[in-house]
This record gives sequence, C-alpha cells and structure tokens, in this order.
Amino acid sequence: MSASGLIKTYVVRSGRMTDAQRQALESFGPSVIIPFSKANAASAKPSPEGFFPTRKPVVMEIGFGMGKATWQIAQVRPQYNYLGVEVHTPGVGRLVMEIRDHGLDNLRIIQHDAVEVLEAMIPEASLAGLHIFYPDPWPKKRHHKRRLMRQPIVDLMVSRLAPGGYLYFVTDIEDYAAATLELLAGIGGLANPFAGYAPRMDWRPETKFEAKAARESRGAFELYFTKRA
Ligand SMILES: C[S@@+](CC[C@H](N)C(=O)[O-])C[C@H]1O[C@@H](n2cnc3c(N)ncnc32)[C@H](O)[C@@H]1O
Repeated sequence: MSASGLIKTYVVRSGRMTDAQRQALESFGPSVIIPFSKANAASAKPSPEGFFPTRKPVVMEIGFGMGKATWQIAQVRPQYNYLGVEVHTPGVGRLVMEIRDHGLDNLRIIQHDAVEVLEAMIPEASLAGLHIFYPDPWPKKRHHKRRLMRQPIVDLMVSRLAPGGYLYFVTDIEDYAAATLELLAGIGGLANPFAGYAPRMDWRPETKFEAKAARESRGAFELYFTKRA
C-alpha cells in the first residue's frame, strides 16, 4: 500500500478564521498558495525549485500549524526556499498574511495532506530538508497508527530528500521522540551526526507548544538526521 493510502495523520478541525486571515487568503492567497496536483504517470514531476521566483534548495515543512516558526525561519535563513504544507485553513490564512506583511518571496504554501503531496508532487531526491515541528502527538496507544512518523511515511520522506539533505523533527512527547529516534536510526540511508538527540538548531524559534511545554517542565526532543550520499 502506498503511504497515502494509510490512515490519515490529522483530523480536519473547524476553527475560526479572523476577517484579516480571510481577506489575506482571498486577495493574496492565489499568489503564494500552490494548488495540489497529481503529475500524470507519463510526465515527470517538476522540481519544487520551480514553485519559487528564485531557484534555491527547497525545504518542506509538514504541518506548520499557525506558521509562526515557518515564516521566522524563512526570514532568518533566506538561502533556502520553504514549502509549508498544512491542512488547517485558519493556519493557512495566517501564514498568507505573514508572507504578505513580511514580503517573503522564499515561502510558499500547499494546503493538502503532506503525505499525498510528497507522493504526488515531490520528485525523488529533490528536497534539501524536511521540518516536522510538534506533530500531532496522538498520545493514546490505539491512536499511534495515526502518527506521522511511521515506517512507510518516513521511507517516503527519506526518498524525497536529496543526498546530504536533512530531516529535522521536534516533539515534547518523550515516547514519540524515542520511537522516532529508533525508527530513523534503523534507516540505513540516514546518518545521525549527533549521539542520539540533537541540540536545538539556533535558527529554530520557540513555538506556542514549546513555550507551554517549558512552563510545564517538559523538554523538547530534537532529532536531526542527514541523508547519506
Ligand atoms: C500539533 S500541530 C503543530 C503545529 C506547528 N508545527 C507548531 O509547532 O506549532 C500539528 C499540525 O500538523 C498538521 N498536520 C498533521 N498531519 C498533516 C498532514 N498529513 N499534512 C498536513 N498537515 C498535517 C495539523 O493540521 C496541525 O496543524
């Protein structure tokens, strides 16, 4: 079964949009949102570098939420283009506003299931990096099958990374972190430049979830693996 045929990693939440988010989505959305599309079987998938006005290596983020870390990283690390993928409409509206207000030409959005995006729109060995920050924890054991970091999905992610590309994963859920560390360490095509967990990358800003975790004396578990050449 393809990774996109697995149980979904999210449930679509209703959530209120502010008038400003709605307005940004309607007026500015079309210039920064890339529609989901499936390349037809006969034609090669176009390189994601072509989604941006300037060609630079592309880093994809899965599940950007309200997009705060996304636009801040795009601002402080302009040597990359960023493709943020999220299903939640208010978050998409918010990030569209931030792209407009900060004049970011290295950040684009796809509003769709990221697993399907990886499968249908991203060619093999084409991403410089993948960001996964605080994915839905699905804490109940019977819901673990919904977690993003499962073997078929992680194999798909690794196939889309270019040699030397990186996968950066952060969670505050210890058992999710430990299971993901074991999963990534077991993939021969990946190397861990750190012993176990990674230090925080100095360019990653604090998210809402992280601030809450810190207040509740829970730490962030960071994983940073690179794809072998
Ligand atoms: C717990 S939130 C974290 C948001 C953000 N990364 C942060 O640190 O604040 C996880 C987000 O991932 C999104 N998500 C989960 N699975 C996804 C998928 N397959 N494709 C796109 N977005 C997904 C959810 O809609 C949700 O907004």
